[in-house]
Amino acid sequence: MTDGIDGLREKFPALRARADGFAPAYLDSACMSLVPQEVLDAMTEYYRDFPGCAGRSLHRFAEEVSRRFEGARETFAKFLEAPSASGIVFVRNSTEAINIVGQGIAWKRGDRVLVSDQEHNSNLILWQRLGPERGVKLEILRLRDDGVFDAEAFEAALSTGVRLVSLFQTSNLDGRSLPVREIVERAHDHGALVLIDGCQAAPHRAVHLDKLGVDFFAVSSHKMLGPTGTGVLAGRPESLAQLRPLLAGGETVEWSTLTDHALRPPPHRFEAGLQNYAGVLGAAAGLRFLERAGLDAIEAHDRELNAHVTRELVDEPRLRLLGPADPADRPSVFAFALRGVDPHDAALFLDEGHGVMVRSGRHCVHSWYAERDLDGNVRASFYLYTNRSDADRLIAGVRELLERMPDRPSGTSASTPKRAAPSVPSRRRAAGSSTAAARSAPPRGTAGRGRAGSSARSG
Ligand code: ALA
Repeated sequence: MTDGIDGLREKFPALRARADGFAPAYLDSACMSLVPQEVLDAMTEYYRDFPGCAGRSLHRFAEEVSRRFEGARETFAKFLEAPSASGIVFVRNSTEAINIVGQGIAWKRGDRVLVSDQEHNSNLILWQRLGPERGVKLEILRLRDDGVFDAEAFEAALSTGVRLVSLFQTSNLDGRSLPVREIVERAHDHGALVLIDGCQAAPHRAVHLDKLGVDFFAVSSHKMLGPTGTGVLAGRPESLAQLRPLLAGGETVEWSTLTDHALRPPPHRFEAGLQNYAGVLGAAAGLRFLERAGLDAIEAHDRELNAHVTRELVDEPRLRLLGPADPADRPSVFAFALRGVDPHDAALFLDEGHGVMVRSGRHCVHSWYAERDLDGNVRASFYLYTNRSDADRLIAGVRELLERMPDRPSGTSASTPKRAAPSVPSRRRAAGSSTAAARSAPPRGTAGRGRAGSSARSG
């Protein structure tokens, strides 16, 4: 497996070498995956061949898009192994899916929500807001840094009486996964509903929703070869039926009078207004691509690349790995901090010096870094099109960076000094660099606040 799985790499236009010879080593798929040509074609085809709106008009464009839109629902249900297509709600992204659940439950004052201390902001900020707004109490489950799930701590948290457990399946921060089946069983034993943020899991391995038994499951298509602005809330029909729709409007009702209406059953009651038909059809094309590649093969491929990178870099004295030591326990993510190197400087150096695209910062999990008084780290993430050469370019880039940048111990091993990196290429440093951002950074440990001047700095 040196060229992505089965030579699939060539099907991704963004990976082609540019006229000037530049070929990207794209290692940021945990943020957003690349899109194969057939996803682009599916979206173009909609606007070119049958640009109608589903479920409304009766002409042939509308009939065609209605048929394909409902077909895409079936594709998602099959891919996720959801109990039924009627439990698939199209949304913009997993953030919206989580909001539909959080805003839709008929909370009683004093109800509790349990989340981990390593959730993306999409699965944290909403629950914080529900405190003052609806009287919902937020409980935090502390996860172990070594990646081992502490079932006793989870059981203890549940025994306080929790209405909803809302956890990631795979962490965007360090790639670890939680034992969702066990979590669901224990939570249901205590009468709690379970919402799983499956964003980082579903692109990389079969999630078998019917076997997991989760009440709600959120995914974003932009991490699974689909376009941005599309995703799915998958739910058990009886759990979805308990939610008050977040949005009201066209297509959500059976009938309406000037004073009243009757909602349609799920999923349509949650899909107000015209939908992103091109996006949904593109997203379904992405799933078909993943099915052909095979999720088992994708997971094995991620693991092999990550094992290689881990083997080569883990003994670098200034490198601190985040999350489980064994790459098999975090197959798609290699997250690390370099002592004495600002993570944004590292990312700029890798991009400009080696064409290696990684993500740096706090990955929208500010709370985790605030708790540990850390500023951020670098994250490389792998997917089916990543090849050995990409991994080797990362390894070479990190080694060169460590050679060129002096060690400046800063007291906390994964922390980052707020000084300039002399060897970071000058073009982008001049155009709003992390040095400038660092000067205006909030004090260490300031929860949830980003660096000024750039949204990249805040995440
Ligand atoms: N976009 C988020 C990340 O990159 C989820 O981790």
